[in-house]
Amino acid sequence: MRILILGGDGFCGWPSALHLSAHEHQVTIVDSFVRRRIDDELRVQSLTPISTLSERVRAWSEVTGRRIDVVEFDLAHEYDVLLDVLSKVRPEVIVHFAEQRAAPYSMKSPELKRYTVDNNLNATHNLLAAVVQAGLDAHVVHLGTMGVYGYESVPVDLPEGYLTVSYPDRDGHLHSREILYPTAPGSVYHLTKSLDQLLFQFYARNDGVRITDLHQGIVWGTQTDETALDSRLINRFDYDGDFGTVLNRFLVQAALGHPLTVHGTGGQTRAFINIRDTVRCIRLAAESGDAVDGRVRVMNQVTETHRVSDLARLVAETIGARISEVPNPRAEADENLLSARNDHLLGLGLEPTRLDAGLLQESVEIAQKYADRVDVSRIPSTSYWNSARRSSAAGGDA
Ligand SMILES: NC(=O)c1ccc[n+]([C@@H]2O[C@H](COP(=O)([O-])OP(=O)(O)OC[C@H]3O[C@@H](n4cnc5c(N)ncnc54)[C@H](O)[C@@H]3O)[C@@H](O)[C@H]2O)c1
Repeated sequence: MRILILGGDGFCGWPSALHLSAHEHQVTIVDSFVRRRIDDELRVQSLTPISTLSERVRAWSEVTGRRIDVVEFDLAHEYDVLLDVLSKVRPEVIVHFAEQRAAPYSMKSPELKRYTVDNNLNATHNLLAAVVQAGLDAHVVHLGTMGVYGYESVPVDLPEGYLTVSYPDRDGHLHSREILYPTAPGSVYHLTKSLDQLLFQFYARNDGVRITDLHQGIVWGTQTDETALDSRLINRFDYDGDFGTVLNRFLVQAALGHPLTVHGTGGQTRAFINIRDTVRCIRLAAESGDAVDGRVRVMNQVTETHRVSDLARLVAETIGARISEVPNPRAEADENLLSARNDHLLGLGLEPTRLDAGLLQESVEIAQKYADRVDVSRIPSTSYWNSARRSSAAGGDA
């Protein structure tokens, strides 16, 4: 199939592009490279030395003989270029990764809240409007997040996007209908993903756009079979307080002999997926677009849930590290329970990769290999959700 990957230079997009190319799909990557510019702005770099996108695709072609095309533009602000690309490439599948994806970054300042809303909502809406305008019957696969469900303990396994509710009419007769599972976003970033869901619902109903929204858990790991083929194909690994995700941060901290920084008591339970499963799920979703009809297909892209303190203990025991409880910068419950269904992807053939010591070790070896690239001062999260705490923290720093 002809597949357009929006945000294909990023942490999930790059290995997904390679995986789809390795499976005989014709891949075109779109990226504005804003993520690389954010690294410069934050004065941080990926733990792993990532090549430029042009070097990456050249290496892929040398190693495998497969070609990946690249187009650089800003999806949120260059609508005409998007339309032109859609009419030239005529993609059958469009995988949309191109959003600002860090919750702490989205809460850093009023400017970054506004940037996150502007970038994410315009990117998603431009895509949907352009698919309709170009008259394309393309299947849109979007990366959403498990965070849209919120992190309150609820007495159910989180369903895949929808909830059936019953309510009495004015005569007291019970009716039931299916609604989008009520969202409870915990950051401006999560808010944009919640709003994306309404855009999808509208365009599926109004224009018949075929859409799959993948509610992905926190991704950990770095390499996949394809990115490991050549050092120039290596994937991004964020460890900093804004973009680093919890388990990858623990792995880097352990590799450096830095204490594992657990926010609060670590009683938060979160959903996880290894990057190797992410790329497989993207392929399973992309290749099953014929099954999408009428309403948005929502699939929970998660393989397991863990309590943050248990993860810290596992990493500490496997690699040997100290755990340090630090104040939680986020406005969130100290503890929650979380369990989610993932029947859709299992039904499509996903065989989950479970967290185990072997895979942790693989990531630690990468962290140790590139330890000299780490700036330890960038490890703590300095984005405070609560403005009163933010100003006191800023005052303290000053
Ligand atoms: N990484 C995770 O743990 C995780 C978990 C759940 C969901 N997701 C979702 O998966 C998607 C990809 O995440 P990631 O970790 O690969 O993020 P990333 O920041 O590494 O990659 C996103 C890519 O999109 C590009 N991009 C952003 N805005 C753009 C625009 N307007 N025009 C063109 N390109 C643009 C960036 O330059 C970057 O290369 C995101 O939508 C994110 O919300 C990620």
